[in-house]
Amino acid sequence: MRATFGRFPSGVIALCATDMRGDPIGMAVSAFVNVSLDPPLVGVFVQATSTTWPKLKERPRIGLSVLGAGQQASCRQLAAREVDRFANVSWESTDHGSVFLHGASAWFDCEIESETTTGDHQFVLLRILEHDFEAEQDPLVFYASSFHELSSLLRTN
Ligand SMILES: Cc1cc2nc3c(=O)[nH]c(=O)nc-3n(C[C@H](O)[C@H](O)[C@H](O)COP(=O)(O)O)c2cc1C
Repeated sequence: MRATFGRFPSGVIALCATDMRGDPIGMAVSAFVNVSLDPPLVGVFVQATSTTWPKLKERPRIGLSVLGAGQQASCRQLAAREVDRFANVSWESTDHGSVFLHGASAWFDCEIESETTTGDHQFVLLRILEHDFEAEQDPLVFYASSFHELSSLLRTN
């Protein structure tokens, strides 16, 4: 079923915040959905087994960065275990502790609205407090278990 799910192309979001000490914590998430314009809401689905989500959900704000084309190494690193997920990753944090990656194609500064158990994932509804995008920066595309760029997808159509 994982392979069938993978036939639906998506972007990848870096879900990141600073911890109590000011160090960045985060994870890569492709299960993201734009939910509502008014009120402004987005959602992500997080594995119930995630060890990072329980830490992120304690933070007052969470930064969502839509990874840009070429950021596949950062994406893999943000999903890897037993590594410094932010080594060689260029990022900045806000006063509220949201962490944003440089080179992303869009950003959402969010707080948690609600969390619902949905099968083996949590559906996390996030209220958007700030947002921005970089029109010149294409997003990274995740499809069939590998990374693509928009231009290569268009060429094959
Ligand atoms: C391309 C990609 C997409 C991913 N999408 C999700 C996702 O939608 N939801 C999720 O919980 N984990 C997703 N992951 C896995 C997490 O990034 C992470 O590996 C997992 O949560 C285990 O780490 P943790 O225990 O630190 O949370 C994805 C990983 C990659 C590489």
